[in-house]
Amino acid sequence: MRIVLVGPPGAGKGTQAAFLARNLSIPHISTGDLFRANISQGTELGKQAKAYMDAGNLVPDEVTIGMAKDRMDQPDAENGFLLDGFPRNVAQAKALDATLEAADMKLDAVLDLEVPEDEVVKRIAGRRICRNDSAHVFHVTYSPPKQEGVCDVCGGELYQRDDDSEGTVRTRLEVYHTQTEPIIDHYRAQGLVVTISALGKVDEVTDRAMAALRGEH
Ligand code: AP5
Ligand code: ZN
Repeated sequence: MRIVLVGPPGAGKGTQAAFLARNLSIPHISTGDLFRANISQGTELGKQAKAYMDAGNLVPDEVTIGMAKDRMDQPDAENGFLLDGFPRNVAQAKALDATLEAADMKLDAVLDLEVPEDEVVKRIAGRRICRNDSAHVFHVTYSPPKQEGVCDVCGGELYQRDDDSEGTVRTRLEVYHTQTEPIIDHYRAQGLVVTISALGKVDEVTDRAMAALRGEH
C-alpha cells in the first residue's frame, strides 16, 4: 500500500505511523525524522534545514522533494510506503503525483488525522523523544516512560524537540492551516481522503485507522 498521513503538528502521526507501518509491512518515511537525522549527523542538508525547522517554517521544496524521492527510491519502499509529513504543500503533492505517475504507481489512501487545536498543544508540550531513535516517542502524562528522562525501549536519553516551544508551535499550526491543509482538497478531488478522529487512546486510534484503510468507515 502507498499511504500519505496528514494532520496537524502533534496529531500523533509519528506515533500512529510506527504501528501502521508494522501492521502493513511497509516502511515509515518521515521527512521530519530524515531532517532531524541529518541535523544530528551534521550534514550539509541538516545545516540547511535547521533554521527553517527551529522557526516552525517549511524547509524549501528544492531540498525536501529531492530528499523524499531519494528515500522512496530505496529498495524497501518498492512495494509501498507510509509517508508522514510529506507532502506538506500543494507543490510537493504535485511533485509526488508526477513521480508516482512516471513509475506507473498510485496512492491508495490519504489518511487525515483530526484533532482539536487545544489537544495538539497539550500533546506537543508533553512530548519527549529518544536521542537514539525518533520512533521512541513518549508523553510526560499520556504515555510516561517508567523512569523520567529515560527511554523504555533502549535506555536512551529523552529530550524535547527545539521546535516544540510555545511560539514555534503557534507558527507550525499556522503553516499547517495555510500550506498543508490545501493538500487535503487536492487529494479529495482524487477520491483518496479518509478522515478519522485521532482522539482517544493510541491503540483505539490505530484500530480506527486500520478500519478506515480497509474501507470500513
Ligand atoms: P515533523 O517532524 O513532520 O513535525 P510535525 O508535522 O509538526 O508533527 P509532529 O512530529 O510534531 O507530530 P506528530 O503528529 O508526529 O505527533 P507525535 O506522534 O509525535 O516536521 C518538523 C519540521 O520539519 C517542520 O516544521 C518543517 O520545518 C520540517 N519538515 C518536515 N517535513 C517537511 C516537508 N515535507 N516540507 C517542508 N518542511 C518539512 O505525537 C505527539 C505527542 O502526543 C507525543 O508525545 C505522543 O506520545 C502523544 N500522543 C500521540 N498519540 C496520542 C494519543 N492518542 N493520546 C495521547 N497522547 C498521544
Ligand atoms: Zn529509545
